[in-house]
Amino acid sequence: MARPKIALIGAGQIGGTLAHLAAIKELGDVIMFDIAEGIPQGKALDIAESGPSEGFDGSFKGTNDYADIAGADVCIVTAGVPRKPGMSRDDLLGINLKVMKSVGEGIAAHAPDAFVICITNPLDAMVWALREFSGLPHNKVVGMAGVLDSARFRHFLSLEFKVSMRDVTAFVLGGHGDTMVPLVRYSTVAGIPLPDLIEMGWTSQDKLDAIVQRTRDGGAEIVGLLKTGSAFYAPATSAIEMAEAYLKDQKRLLPCAAYCDGEFGLKGIYVGVPTIIGAGGIEKVVDIKLNKDEQVMFDKSIEAVRGLVEACKGIDSSLA
Ligand code: APR
Repeated sequence: MARPKIALIGAGQIGGTLAHLAAIKELGDVIMFDIAEGIPQGKALDIAESGPSEGFDGSFKGTNDYADIAGADVCIVTAGVPRKPGMSRDDLLGINLKVMKSVGEGIAAHAPDAFVICITNPLDAMVWALREFSGLPHNKVVGMAGVLDSARFRHFLSLEFKVSMRDVTAFVLGGHGDTMVPLVRYSTVAGIPLPDLIEMGWTSQDKLDAIVQRTRDGGAEIVGLLKTGSAFYAPATSAIEMAEAYLKDQKRLLPCAAYCDGEFGLKGIYVGVPTIIGAGGIEKVVDIKLNKDEQVMFDKSIEAVRGLVEACKGIDSSLA
């Protein structure tokens, strides 16, 4: 059987890391597309040349022509600009909306059957716009944010509890921005909920509150350190986890920016919710119960996402 075809739209920091991870995990043949000439070609060749030492097979190609993504099984979109220190993800909206238009049209024309994972920020609005521009089914277009935000939360919790990151599970829902909602009640160490761990004296409410805030500011913390761009290793790893769930029909339960059609009382909006990813794309949005405080935070987050979507409609009348 032919190897799956993975198209990476955007061959920058995240795109290059995605290609390298896809290669090492032997997920399929990789095609890297970018408007910058030479960058996707150079990175693809460089990665291919790491194959003999690493011991993977596959074809790696860079291109500036959308025709080369034809028949892709998965498209991962990182085209656009990242933020610099002092910028919020929302500041990227104007530039990246135009990029989503050309990417959406390119995917619609050449890879309409692909499972599309968007990483470009501001995430929830960009994945919505990308779906609108591409016209692909809602269950085949999804945004990567919750896996990354949850991974950051899990990492910080593992440092606090001095336990393996593998034993920490955590859920972060809502929009991928300052209003994201780390769900303390649904986060555990090997099944022990965080509120129980406070009672057991493993941490305090103040420390937990600080970890929740550090999670919300996780992207900005990296931008502040790098100064020239934003995070790329963990975002790429998170998107690869989602792509693998689709390609291998794993039925993973992962928090993703998915289209809600009645779930959580929402209609027609993309936002971070628990989903099941398998061969059918987003096979289910898992409509978990939120308590009063969580609902207040979630509603605030939805309001922020709606504001960005309205801003998109104001910029591009074809979206209105
Ligand atoms: N079509 C294709 N590629 C494009 C387009 C376009 N219209 N516009 C820009 N690009 C390419 C750039 O040439 C660059 O190679 O997108 C790439 C973006 O790479 P980086 O600048 O390195 O950004 P990266 O760190 O990969 O982040 C990409 O993901 O997490 C988000 O906020 C982040 O929006 C940013 C995106």
